[in-house]
Amino acid sequence: MKSYLKMSREELAAEIEALRAEYRKYQAMDLNLDMSRGKPCREQLDLSMDMMDALNSEADLSCEDGTDCRNYGVLEGIWEARVLIADMMENNPENVLLYGNSSLNVMYDQIARSFTHGVMGNTPWCKLDKVKWLCPVPGYDRHFSITEYFGIEMIPVPMSSNGPDMEMIEKLVSEDEAIKGIWCVPKYSNPQGYSYNDETVRRFARLKPAAKDFRIYWDNAYGVHHLYDKHQDYLIEILAECKRAGNPDLVYKFSSTSKITFPGSGIAALATSANNLEDVKNQLKHQTIGHDKVNQLRHVRFFGDIHGMVEHMRKHAAVIRPKFEAVEQIFAQNLEGLEIASWTKPNGGYFISFDGLDGTAKAIIDRAKKAGVKLTPAGSTWPYHKDPHDNNIRIAPTYPTLDELKTAAKLFSVCVKLVSAEKLYGKTEEKKTDK
Ligand SMILES: Cc1ncc(COP(=O)(O)O)c(C=O)c1O
Repeated sequence: MKSYLKMSREELAAEIEALRAEYRKYQAMDLNLDMSRGKPCREQLDLSMDMMDALNSEADLSCEDGTDCRNYGVLEGIWEARVLIADMMENNPENVLLYGNSSLNVMYDQIARSFTHGVMGNTPWCKLDKVKWLCPVPGYDRHFSITEYFGIEMIPVPMSSNGPDMEMIEKLVSEDEAIKGIWCVPKYSNPQGYSYNDETVRRFARLKPAAKDFRIYWDNAYGVHHLYDKHQDYLIEILAECKRAGNPDLVYKFSSTSKITFPGSGIAALATSANNLEDVKNQLKHQTIGHDKVNQLRHVRFFGDIHGMVEHMRKHAAVIRPKFEAVEQIFAQNLEGLEIASWTKPNGGYFISFDGLDGTAKAIIDRAKKAGVKLTPAGSTWPYHKDPHDNNIRIAPTYPTLDELKTAAKLFSVCVKLVSAEKLYGKTEEKKTDK
């Protein structure tokens, strides 16, 4: 296919006309498709239905140590569930604290407590003039929403396929005491599906922050979410690396079973050093007597152990891998060689990140919406919803059916081509009037 950048004005005009006709055909189809959020599809949720039979009214709801799960108590979570989740997170169960159903909620709580009570005896952030945060971009909109909500100043840090720009991070955290944290999705990142390489993780563990209460918010939401058996990304375990580097308290690591069992009813967890855990528990004990132990037990009885969970994740992969591959194939067929777009090809996680020409993302999303395909709003992958290039779009392939997704990806490609061709045609207009 001929590059749009090399097309003459006349060729672009003809291309636009053909694309407009194609777009109108999609509009006439009266579509109503959603590629906006990283939600598991129904078939994925069905994979965990047997978990509902793991417990019934005749079940013994006692833990291995005799704890009655129906009653109050056990702030840290039941031991066998801590073992299961610790295996999932590649940590020691002693370092793992189980929460309710949402890891985002745990992250929010960590920040809220840092504001009201401070981190390990340090000044509560509410008493500081300014709190700043590093945000690798493109990133996860709900992370940015939490820090924005607390009035934290967010500083974008560019991502590459190896992870965020470490030189920039090292410099900023060592010079500025107001920087208290960084959002990281280290494996199969949201939205690019990149995994931090060894050097990136080692440099994170060796940061020398000016602020004693600086913490890395290591959100390993997609740690076991591989799409392939063979091509799997590998990530160095950060808690162990921090310990090795003499920085044991530097990181809070988060995860959950949201995209393993049910997003509304999973188990969330925090893994961190003994010192951090003590600090967190001292505050958490005022907040709750304990989380949902029946749900924790249900997960343990359903999976048995980590091997059961790994097997279960293969079933998820079998459902969603064809969806990722379909999007990648349709993009390749329709957009490769045109020099107007690039996209990631992840080995896991929930997203594909798409980059168009500068100044086209919003228009592409608007066009898709007018033809019945909903995408994550433009700018969502940047703090304050401000993508300075207006070129990044997060594609979430898991929720629609395969057929719906194929239609949506084709329409999306038409929108990309149309908006890009119109933009380039506009530029030739400018050139003409410049003369
Ligand atoms: C990076 C990341 N973290 C956290 C979450 C949400 O996790 P939870 O359901 O445990 O709150 C998501 C969901 O899309 C995510 O992509």
